Amino acid sequence: MKAAVTAHSKYTISDIDPRLYGSFIEHLGRAVYTGIYEPDHPTADENGMRKDVIELVKELNVPIVRYPGGNFVSAYNWEDGIGPKESRPTRLDLAWHTCESNKVGIHEFADWCTAANTEMMLAVNLGSRGLDEARNFLEYVNHSGGSEWSDKRIANGRAEPWDVKLWCLGNEMDGPWQIGHKTADEYGRLAHETAKAMRAFDSSLELVVCGSSNAHMPTYPEWEATVLDHTYNEVDYISLHMYFENRAKNTANYLARSIELDNYIGTVAGVIDYIKAKKRSSKNVYISFDEWNVWYHSKERDKATLAGANGWPHAPALLEDDYNFEDVLQVGCILNTFINRADVVKIACLAQLINVIAPIMTVPGGPAWRQTIFYPYYFASVYGRGTALKLMVDSPTYRVDDLGDVPYLDVSAVHDADKKTVTFFIVNRHGAETLDLDVSLLEFGALRVIDDQVVSHSDLNITNTADAPDNVVAKAVTGTSVVDGKLSARIAPLSYRMIRLHAYFKPVFPIHIKRYVDNTIV
Ligand code: AHR
Repeated sequence: MKAAVTAHSKYTISDIDPRLYGSFIEHLGRAVYTGIYEPDHPTADENGMRKDVIELVKELNVPIVRYPGGNFVSAYNWEDGIGPKESRPTRLDLAWHTCESNKVGIHEFADWCTAANTEMMLAVNLGSRGLDEARNFLEYVNHSGGSEWSDKRIANGRAEPWDVKLWCLGNEMDGPWQIGHKTADEYGRLAHETAKAMRAFDSSLELVVCGSSNAHMPTYPEWEATVLDHTYNEVDYISLHMYFENRAKNTANYLARSIELDNYIGTVAGVIDYIKAKKRSSKNVYISFDEWNVWYHSKERDKATLAGANGWPHAPALLEDDYNFEDVLQVGCILNTFINRADVVKIACLAQLINVIAPIMTVPGGPAWRQTIFYPYYFASVYGRGTALKLMVDSPTYRVDDLGDVPYLDVSAVHDADKKTVTFFIVNRHGAETLDLDVSLLEFGALRVIDDQVVSHSDLNITNTADAPDNVVAKAVTGTSVVDGKLSARIAPLSYRMIRLHAYFKPVFPIHIKRYVDNTIV
């Protein structure tokens, strides 16, 4: 099977906002407790944070982490997480039917972000609470001092404001499961007024309004139109969420779901344009895809955990999906979709980061380890920074009922002009055939392959575990080269690949140079 791609440095989609590779930590399951925070762990730092986890997060170069939820935020009192730990209240978390000790709050999370070399993306509670709590939280987090809430922060040990710029106005407010669920009009009005108040404090904030929880919600995409009609001039992003599953065990269909994601992004981009035109506005609103991942492996187990829970457990194992090799391919296709839509998707958050539907897992008192999906996320986050290239792609296709023709080749490319690199992220969706790929790069000048990595396995269902964390890892490929401006690569069936090229100076008359060096008279 053959496929051809043409890349040109002037044919671009957009500069990539590094926050496209963000992630998410919610007070849910073991994300916080025994995930990032475990004071008795042998690697715990002075704040009780696991240093082994911090090192893995740093390896991923995560630019932002959304916090504290998720569904959790919609009944969260942020004030419960400040002040001396021993006097913080234990609350019932209605979203996940668990107990919240509040031993970790905004101070602890902010310190963790500093240690993990990442930034905070904070969410305010617009479910059980509203504008007043949001503006107080903002004052606590961002005001220098001399007011009630900023002085409390200082008294609690943090003199400097954190100056968090990126704020979510609630979470999934279209979902009937959400505490304080609202209609689009109710939410749109509240989000608008909350945004206005927050901007009155700091007009340079970046605000994210809730879009649909998924593209199958009965209110989608009317929800986006109504909410943006209320909020367009006060917000910068509309949030979308999507989770992927393969319960039917149909790999070809599963791997085609990123086309559905692409359609979802395209529809919401259209709604944004519609409201922009309706408002006669020159301002742009972009998409913050702040929850995405594969999520289905743990669902049955979780039903049993919650049904069998005696009361309200603290930090039970919930949403602990064991990712398999097939999910590497899915996550690779999702990330390619975001890169190829980098003109409208500026922020995206892999949900979530530790233990809860996560690339990083921990054993309480034991090791932290990488799930299979760690690898495509790692490659995109570390090497996918720069400008997304608009590729011309010619690939054989297969038919999927609700999506039409789906290309076997899924690909994106990122040009980093400063580092002189072009990086390709590739998935071969074919179950049996190798893809002979030709990429024409003539206009880039002389390029050489500096890194070629593959993630592949003969067993789609293989997982990494605490005892066998290296069942699925990335492996270096040798022998791929660029000849006369053409990269030729053989992409194995059902494999993920990252190929990095670097520009170099190629002498025009190499024979003459050699003769001069050899001091030979011609
Ligand atoms: O990420 C898990 C949950 O999925 C989040 O709490 C919620 O926002 C979404 O439904």
